Amino acid sequence: MEKLLSALNWIERQTHTRTNHAQMLVGREEGLYLRDFVVRNNCKRVLEIGSFTGYSLACLADGVRSASGLVTRNKDVFVDAIEINRELDYIIEEGLQRAGVSELVKVFFGDAVELLSEKRAGADNGIAEEYDLVFIDADKRQYPQYYELTLPLVKQGGYILADNVTWYGRTEDHKDAKSGGIASFNAMVESDSRVESHFVDIRDGLLVIRRK
Ligand SMILES: C[S@@+](CC[C@H](N)C(=O)[O-])C[C@H]1O[C@@H](n2cnc3c(N)ncnc32)[C@H](O)[C@@H]1O
Repeated sequence: MEKLLSALNWIERQTHTRTNHAQMLVGREEGLYLRDFVVRNNCKRVLEIGSFTGYSLACLADGVRSASGLVTRNKDVFVDAIEINRELDYIIEEGLQRAGVSELVKVFFGDAVELLSEKRAGADNGIAEEYDLVFIDADKRQYPQYYELTLPLVKQGGYILADNVTWYGRTEDHKDAKSGGIASFNAMVESDSRVESHFVDIRDGLLVIRRK
């Protein structure tokens, strides 16, 4: 855990120094919640959509390391991630190395909807067939698509965790595309009989969705 916390400090500092978007990080409380969720639910195959500088990715991967006892990925134990922006890959890479989990993780650079759609069309782009847990934290406008594309990849009894589901209270009026995306996503999950879900009041709201 000490290694992870020190890596998180480093990632946070790098993010503040090298980007103008440090507010995008899930932060310590939610990051450790994600790690703990992975450990408690014994998740060993994890996908993250939207990695930025790798803060939540390091937390998820450390959870998989703790649940599996492994530091190298294999066909049953792995963390995949999708991120559209390649420019910050050096922070992701060094952060994961500092946390001691770089060999568990593979980052796919590209648009999440495209990569996930290719997967469903049968192209082998490396994204796995089945996950214990998917963490959604990319483009808020695309949450409904991420949900539809990833639910079939989640095993029965597995989880999708979706970040920012209150979107700082802006989902009520749906005035912009991001608020509209989150509002549609929330409504979609609520009326979906394939899943059960509950809201976790952490940071900007986390929705825990369990595939039945
Ligand atoms: C809120 S940040 C992720 C923060 C990260 N989960 C963390 O807490 O450390 C959202 C990320 O999603 C990425 N993103 C936005 N649109 C995307 C898309 N269409 N496909 C893949 N990634 C995307 C952005 O580049 C950004 O890095």
